[in-house]
Amino acid sequence: MPALLETYAAFPFVLDRGSGDRVHAEDGTEYFDWYGGHCVTSTGHSHPRLVAAIAEQAGKLLFYSAAARLRVREQAAQALIDYLAGCGAAGVFFCNSGAEANENALKLAIKQTGRTGLVSFDGGWHGRTLLALSVTDDPKITEPYAGILPPSQRLPFGDLAAVEQFDFTKTAAVIVEPIQSMSGIRTASAAWFQRLRERTAAAGCWLIFDEIQTGMSRMGVATAAEFYGVQPDAISLAKGLASGVPIGATVLSAERAAAVKSGDLGSTFGGGPLAMAAMLATLRVIADEQLARRAREVAERLRASLPGAAVQTVIGEGLLLGLRTPGPAAALKRHLFERRLLVGASGDPSVLRLMPCLNVSEAAIVALETAVHEFKG
Ligand SMILES: Cc1ncc(COP(=O)(O)O)c(C=O)c1O
Repeated sequence: MPALLETYAAFPFVLDRGSGDRVHAEDGTEYFDWYGGHCVTSTGHSHPRLVAAIAEQAGKLLFYSAAARLRVREQAAQALIDYLAGCGAAGVFFCNSGAEANENALKLAIKQTGRTGLVSFDGGWHGRTLLALSVTDDPKITEPYAGILPPSQRLPFGDLAAVEQFDFTKTAAVIVEPIQSMSGIRTASAAWFQRLRERTAAAGCWLIFDEIQTGMSRMGVATAAEFYGVQPDAISLAKGLASGVPIGATVLSAERAAAVKSGDLGSTFGGGPLAMAAMLATLRVIADEQLARRAREVAERLRASLPGAAVQTVIGEGLLLGLRTPGPAAALKRHLFERRLLVGASGDPSVLRLMPCLNVSEAAIVALETAVHEFKG
C-alpha cells in the first residue's frame, strides 16, 4: 500500500519541474500545460518575479499570524481591492483555499442576515468543507454526508424563470460559479446574472460569486462579476490568486465589509506573509504583462482556429475554455497527451477543459492547434 493515499487520478508520470507554460517529467519529457496545474498557474510555472518575491519574503519573515500587523499583508489587501475596483469590492479576509473562501462567505451571510436558507445551482462546484459541500452539485462527493449536510435549495443554472419565481426572502445567500468549470464549462447570459443580482438585492439576501476559477483576469477582465456587469456581496478567490502558493480570499462589498466584527472569522495561516508576497507579485505581473488582454486574444484565436473534425465548438470565455467534441472527449485527451499536451477532462464526457497560464506562449498555441487538427478519431 503506498504511503500517500491515492485520492486523485494523476497524470501517468512523475513531475519534476515547470517553467512558464511547460512542465518536465522526471524522465525528461516536456509537456505544454494547458491544464495550468489545476487552473492555478495564472502567471505560469515559477515565474522569475514570483520566485524572487517569495525568496525575499522567506528570508525576511516566513510567517506571523494575524496576531501581528504586517506591512506586506496590508499592502497586499489594498492591492487586491484596487484590482477589484470594477466589482465594488471594499474589504478582504484571507484564508488558505477555495473551499474556505466559500465557507467564510456563506457563514458571514448567515450571521449578517440572521437567515439560514442557502441557494445554489445545478452543476455548481464549490468545495469540500461542509457548507461548501452543501451547495455543491456532485453526488459522488456529497452523498456519504447527505445526513449531516445543511439543506440547500438548488435552482436550474441560467434559467430566468426560476430566478423570477423563487422567493429569496428567507435566503441568507445565493452562491454561483459564474462559469461552471467542472460540469463542462457551462455559461449563463449577462442578463441572467443581472436579474439574479436585482432579485437577491431586493430580498436582502447575499449574492456570492465563486470566482475561484473565473477570477484573476482569466476571463479577460479582473473578474466574472465585472465581465457580467454585476456587483456581488462577496467574491471568493483562490487557485490563481498567488500563482500556486496556497491562498484563499473572501472579498466583500462595502456594506457587507462594514458589518464584519472582530472575531467573526479567523485562520492561523490565512494572510501569511509568504502568500501575501506571492499575491502581490501575481497582481503586478498580471498588470505589467497585460495578461487580461492576452487571455482575450488567445481565446479569440482558439475559438477560430480549433474547430474542425476533432472539435465542434470552443465554449467558455477568456482562458477558461471547453472543447466540445463530436464523440467522447477522452480519445482526444489521450491523443493530446501523446502529443505532450496536458488538458483537463470535465463532468461532461464530450467537453475537455483548457485553463492554462495567462501568458501561454505562441509555441504552446501552435502545438495545440496542430495536434487538434491531426486527430483522426
Ligand atoms: C469553482 C471552485 N470553487 C471551489 C473550489 C475549491 O477550492 P479548493 O480546492 O482550493 O478548496 C474549486 C476547486 O476546484 C473550484 O473549482
